[in-house]
Amino acid sequence: MPLTQRSTLTQFLIEERRRFPGASGDFNALILDVALACKAIARAVALGELGGHSGDFSAQGGAINVQGETQKKLDVLSNQVFIRRTEWAGNLAGMASEEMEAAYQIPAQYPRGKYLLVFDPLDGSSNIDVNVSVGSIFSVLRASKEVEATGRDVVEADFLQSGAQQVAAGYALYGPTTMLVLSVGDGVNGFTLDPELGEFMLTHPKIRVPEETQEFAINASNSRFWEAPVKRYVDECLAGKPGARGKDFNMRWIASMVAEAHRILMRGGVFLYPRDSKDPSKPGRLRLLYEANPVGFLMEQAGGRASTGETPMMSVQPSSLHQRIGLVFGSKNEVERIERYHAEPLPKASVDPLFSPRSLFRD
Ligand code: AHG
Ligand code: MN
Ligand code: MN
Repeated sequence: MPLTQRSTLTQFLIEERRRFPGASGDFNALILDVALACKAIARAVALGELGGHSGDFSAQGGAINVQGETQKKLDVLSNQVFIRRTEWAGNLAGMASEEMEAAYQIPAQYPRGKYLLVFDPLDGSSNIDVNVSVGSIFSVLRASKEVEATGRDVVEADFLQSGAQQVAAGYALYGPTTMLVLSVGDGVNGFTLDPELGEFMLTHPKIRVPEETQEFAINASNSRFWEAPVKRYVDECLAGKPGARGKDFNMRWIASMVAEAHRILMRGGVFLYPRDSKDPSKPGRLRLLYEANPVGFLMEQAGGRASTGETPMMSVQPSSLHQRIGLVFGSKNEVERIERYHAEPLPKASVDPLFSPRSLFRD
């Protein structure tokens, strides 16, 4: 399509806003600031070692974040970029990020607004060193009327809203092209960064996740820690054509959730990072507020589904800012199947033989 016929992100947002004649424009301004942050991060990622980020940009940043993970310099830089690009404009009441233990307060010299921005500034950062795609992922929530009216400092409880309450969610993918994929609650649209214009252009309107798939993504090195319904699902995929599913499956694992989400939005598939027994203090690997919820919102807006395995992700009531959770998302029929396996009593074959009838451990 010729350039002259494509919408820019700005044009898209203004046209969307016409659906809400009373809207102030704050929301659009916020999304454009987030988009600018993503462009800046895209540039840092693309320059790699040439970027001059204190020499070695993939090196460890030194500090340990609240997750107990060592921050890379690019994690820290990306977090700063998100903050600096969005804090000044009077659209935000506060922010929360993977890289900050507590909620971020809008500095006193700036006006405060009605939205909360929650983000993982650099997702998949173990891939920086090896030149594999990484991304940023974010969620926009409404602050309470009381926060909006008083302009008080935000506290953790202000962010503990279910995924269904998200106003918008999106991610930027820093791959061979930089893309911004966004939902403002009216479907999902994908924009590709035109590096010469510096604009995100609408290239993937109204993205839909195919309901059927033959592709799954899971970190199989954790298989000994999986719960029985997950084991059953993966075993059936691996059994292929002669097995219960009657078809062969393909497997992928990028270790950048944003990149996996993008593949699934483009051509279907299912992603699992389920709750497992590896570390009882971590009920899942991924974080509810800035990974599972935004990706879940995008999937559902594109006709896919997201779940803990037991509960629809959008209805989970968060209990803390950095809460981890089991996450399954992607093509609707597969996610529903996995939910069914969690709800059903275990089939005989998956009951541990030691505990089966007539074993030593049963009376
Ligand atoms: P982050 O870099 O923000 O900490 O997130 C990495 C996440 C996610 O993107 C990916 O799906 C998962 O961690 C990979 O986990 P494994 O290392 O267990 O494969
Ligand atoms: Mn992440
Ligand atoms: Mn991250």
